[in-house]
Amino acid sequence: MSIDLNTFTEQFQLDDKALDSTEIPWIPQTERSWFKPLRFDLTNGSWINLLKVKPGGVVDRHRHTGGKVMAYTLQGQWRYLERDWVAKPGTFVFEPPGDIHTLTVDGDEDMITLFMLEGSLQYLDDNDKIIQQVDVFSKLKLYLEYCEKNNIPVVDLTF
Ligand SMILES: [Fe+2]
Repeated sequence: MSIDLNTFTEQFQLDDKALDSTEIPWIPQTERSWFKPLRFDLTNGSWINLLKVKPGGVVDRHRHTGGKVMAYTLQGQWRYLERDWVAKPGTFVFEPPGDIHTLTVDGDEDMITLFMLEGSLQYLDDNDKIIQQVDVFSKLKLYLEYCEKNNIPVVDLTF
């Protein structure tokens, strides 16, 4: 006897999620920036996080490789030193693979932006030598270590 497709799908589909992001900590990234992870996709090597940067903060010059980045600005203003545009609340940003840029936050308000990232970020020195690399695993490692160190319950974000 055959069952209808919706019933069949319910047997196999993955669980849905509704995460309370207030249960996930802001993890220090640099002196004036923090990230809050929302999803680690270990199949595709992609991840989603909120990024918060205080005025005067910088995300050092880096290259994206192995995938694209998309971002949606929620609060504050930010820009790349290499570009003319300024992202404000409501600005959607697309960064193609290979993009190299330096994020900076001007003004007097904290910037909060939702970033959806693939592949890796390669931080570059002035001679374009790779000095640090970040990917879904290094972000997951930072999250788990921060939770352990601060006695914060881990939310399973690997879905
Ligand atoms: Fe970037």
